[in-house]
Amino acid sequence: SWTTGNVIEEQVAAIREQVGDKRAICGLSGGVDSAVAAALVQKAIGSQLTCVYVDHGLMRKGETEQVEKDFVAATGVQLKVVDAEERFLKALAGVSDPEEKRKIIGREFIRVFEQAQAEIIADQGPAVEFLVQGTLYPDVVESGGGTGTANIKSHHNVGGLPEDLEFKLIEPLRKLFKDEVRMVGQELGLPEEIVQRQPFPGPGLGIRIVGDVTKERLDLLREADAIAREELTAAGLDRDIWQCPVVLLADVRSVGVQGDGRTYGHPIVLRPVSSEDAMTADWSRLPYEVLAKISTRITNEVRDVNRVVLDVTSKPPGTIEWE
Ligand code: XMP
Repeated sequence: SWTTGNVIEEQVAAIREQVGDKRAICGLSGGVDSAVAAALVQKAIGSQLTCVYVDHGLMRKGETEQVEKDFVAATGVQLKVVDAEERFLKALAGVSDPEEKRKIIGREFIRVFEQAQAEIIADQGPAVEFLVQGTLYPDVVESGGGTGTANIKSHHNVGGLPEDLEFKLIEPLRKLFKDEVRMVGQELGLPEEIVQRQPFPGPGLGIRIVGDVTKERLDLLREADAIAREELTAAGLDRDIWQCPVVLLADVRSVGVQGDGRTYGHPIVLRPVSSEDAMTADWSRLPYEVLAKISTRITNEVRDVNRVVLDVTSKPPGTIEWE
């Protein structure tokens, strides 16, 4: 019968057999799937695994620390963190078009990740043969069930590497659904904040700033988002909502009054939704008291924000994210 204990035991044995005395690399995104996949492989092969985390500077408050400190403490995994914030901010400077932002973030991410891979291979030698991926069962079905190798072009010349690096894939979550992955993660002792994490887009807060992305705007949005998350959690609503994007309308200003002064600040949008699979969604009917608390705190605590608005659009016609 299906138990998380069986799944873990089976996978650990299979991974050991597959990897032998070779080495593996795994990219961590901060999300559930890559974290659980990495933890499983770590349990199987220990220090033969090296994880890579690209800090693009677009994460929410505390998320990078969760990976760097809590995840490492819980698993003992070997982690290479690449601080690429400056690089991403530079590449994004002056860009406000949503698709352009996505392209830039995706491109920079691959470059930074491949550079890190190349450094690990230069360091550890050709024994690095495997790439761990957090592919789930629904992903397998969607893509027609293929498995095998990943071809990763190297654009960097680190110590005489071949132009094309071919990795064999380790995909220990291929038979699992999301809720099963969370159970396995819990059994492996991963932090609750990672195991129960709601969906968060790869491009991060970069696509939650309407307007161009700057460090200042990111910091402001991080504060507002942290307050919203804190109050939703405190109200016990994390399981009722699918996710709640918090969006900064950086190119919009409106007049306000605070103390005895006039303000001219930015609006923050709350976008709480309920959904089964993110293909369609309904706006969440959050309790007024919770909305009031979030609104009061954000306008009091976040400099330059003088208005909080609620998005009451379903998907379709609105997407969950604003960009
Ligand atoms: P939309 O905005 O299309 O979002 O209704 C549907 C779900 O997908 C997430 N999302 C992304 N996830 N990379 C991701 O990994 C992305 O580029 C991306 N864009 C949107 C979004 O948060 C929602 O859960």
